[in-house]
Amino acid sequence: MVDIAKIRNDFPILKRQINNKPLVYFDNAATSQKPKVVIDAIVDYYENYNANIHRGVHTLSQEATDKYEAARQKIQHHFNAANPEEIIFTSGTTEAINLVATSFTTLLQSGDELIISALEHHSNIVPWQMLCERTGAVLKVIPMKHDGSLDLAEYDRFLNNKTKLVMVNHVSNALGTINPIKRIIDTAHAHGAAVLIDGAQASMHIKTNVQALDVDFYTVSAHKMCGPTGVGMLYGKAEWLRKLPPYKGGGEMIAEVRFEKTTYADIPHKFEAGTPNIVGGIAFGTAIDYLNQIGMSKIANYESELLDYATKALEKLDGIEIYGKTVEKTAVVSFNFQGLHPYDVGTIIDKLGIAVRTGHHCAQPIMDFYKIPGTIRASFAFYNTKTEIDLMITALKRAKEMLS
Ligand code: ALA
Repeated sequence: MVDIAKIRNDFPILKRQINNKPLVYFDNAATSQKPKVVIDAIVDYYENYNANIHRGVHTLSQEATDKYEAARQKIQHHFNAANPEEIIFTSGTTEAINLVATSFTTLLQSGDELIISALEHHSNIVPWQMLCERTGAVLKVIPMKHDGSLDLAEYDRFLNNKTKLVMVNHVSNALGTINPIKRIIDTAHAHGAAVLIDGAQASMHIKTNVQALDVDFYTVSAHKMCGPTGVGMLYGKAEWLRKLPPYKGGGEMIAEVRFEKTTYADIPHKFEAGTPNIVGGIAFGTAIDYLNQIGMSKIANYESELLDYATKALEKLDGIEIYGKTVEKTAVVSFNFQGLHPYDVGTIIDKLGIAVRTGHHCAQPIMDFYKIPGTIRASFAFYNTKTEIDLMITALKRAKEMLS
């Protein structure tokens, strides 16, 4: 059991009122809220040891470097990477995916094949389309089924000896579907293809073990797991990271710079040009400690109760359509009311203190599949409660009355 009162007390923002109503924050898939320990870690850095890292012999620089590298190790252990060099700090999932997509340019030839899925966020579509434009590689898309799952039979038909890369999200941001990534990775490997899993929407809900998955690349954003914005992780197997050329040039990523020829640093620094988001990296480590103190399996169990409770309550509302009905789901419910625009419903319930996301959720192909402009998406976290779900249901009934 999670101690919900204690947990809620860790998050200062949960005491806020919106339009004189208690905030009900159900937009956790867009970004999670931050516990006080993470906010304190940010203040502590700026108040007590703000300095650049890897560059100075002075005490502050050493302290900042030690904390930043300790955060890398926390991330390594959390995701069970074999060594810290396999953890590259990025600005988030989008940059992590762009890094891999850009660095693969020189490793692909015209006619090579890449596979993504119909459930991807735009950030796991567009960088691969750009890579195909640069190289002449061909992009194939695993279709989705009406329940929000992937058509794996079609995936199996796509795989052949021209397949070089497969990119799928661990969890769909728009629907909450948990994809069978181990099965996807193993089948890709059997055809010699590498696999990148976009873990942005999984990271706060599922404990991922990159070695057990045998995944080649795994990406997350700290802000979706109680950490700050502007920082994230690319996990890559060391052999892949050493094979890929650097993505950005600059300070820190070099061994030696001469006008005739520059040589590059080893991983992880080869991919970390310029002053990084030092405080972000450190606070990312604090967020990981915080999640582990609660326990990822406790989080998953509690959130699954919330999902079940919300789904049952929503299903009772007239004219509702819920999108994404797979058994394996994180705590996300995407829905619409017949004849009502999601934006209008979202705007009214905001007046009642309820924060949800409305729109296409950066996953337009999913909306096209269901032939809708967007959905109302309620996405829960371990600091939410069933009482808050009741408040959302009351607010939705009110919105329906006003708009019908
Ligand atoms: N990708 C984030 C979301 O799903 C922003 O809301």
